[in-house]
Amino acid sequence: MHIISSPGAMQKRSQSWRRQGIRIGFVPTMGYLHAGHLSLVREARRRTGKKGKVVLSIYVNPTQFAPTEDLAKYPRDLNRDLQLCREAGVDTVFTPGDAEMYPGGRPQGPAHKDARPTGFSTYVVEEKLSQNMEGAARPTHFRGVTTVVAKLFNLVRPDVAVFGQKDFQQAAVIKRMVADLNFPIKIVIAPTLRERDGLAMSSRNKYLDAEQRAQAVILFHALQAVCAAVKKKSVSAARLKADLKEFFTAAPQARLDYVEFFDPGTLEPVTQVRSGTQMALAVFVGKTRLIDNAPL
Ligand code: PAJ
Repeated sequence: MHIISSPGAMQKRSQSWRRQGIRIGFVPTMGYLHAGHLSLVREARRRTGKKGKVVLSIYVNPTQFAPTEDLAKYPRDLNRDLQLCREAGVDTVFTPGDAEMYPGGRPQGPAHKDARPTGFSTYVVEEKLSQNMEGAARPTHFRGVTTVVAKLFNLVRPDVAVFGQKDFQQAAVIKRMVADLNFPIKIVIAPTLRERDGLAMSSRNKYLDAEQRAQAVILFHALQAVCAAVKKKSVSAARLKADLKEFFTAAPQARLDYVEFFDPGTLEPVTQVRSGTQMALAVFVGKTRLIDNAPL
């Protein structure tokens, strides 16, 4: 397994593969890998074949964190990640540093007009699918995601890139960016891997203490409860939102940030929820913000 940290070297490597007609599969991550990430690696391998190359990137991208968020304490363990990648059969791990990805220092972008000038000033902004839910709760988040993913796509030059359904809106925004900007890349969305009790795997689960961990499963239970409620009949979104507020009082450590019911294609909220509607929610458990979603 190769480890590459220089963007130039990564680009050269992928250009050389492409000249040899080798297919490239790509899994972008922020590291602190779990079984969910590794399932994306397997999917990338399936899509590229034995002769193909699978690249996994590990980069905690500063531009997708707001100044108040957990960038500094985001969990990192590169040695463990590299071991997991070796075991999973990753061909190349790309681990760029901030100075290479954003020369001149971490940019803060137009939302922070007082920020010192840096060597980086171009962003990729999706304007429709990134407005509600995570986009409303974290206004500069998707601009950072689309920008870094566009950069990573230009460095890794993949034929296929695999993203998790766990971040449903992120996957939709990336698909839209790839279509709008004509990236010649197939985007594959892989299912959410869960812990035994149903909690979606996430690097941020590490922040939870034992009691918070026990209560965090309420995200999954909320998805299940609504699934059951709309199985045979449609129910108004307002009614379900009111019921969920009540539902969350059972877990005093958990505070509902938002819950939304929407069309999985357009991400437009619906007023009547029925089988096939997508549900997404964000919940603070203590200080940790967790998200989950499912088709109903
Ligand atoms: P990160 O949170 O590390 O997630 C990397 C990829 O793993 C994403 O596509 C995410 O949806 C997927 N993933 C996370 N939890 C999963 C689970 N339980 N089951 C299956 N897949 C899961 O998402 C990011 O990083 C960043 O925003 C990134 C795209 C790398 C850009 O910086």
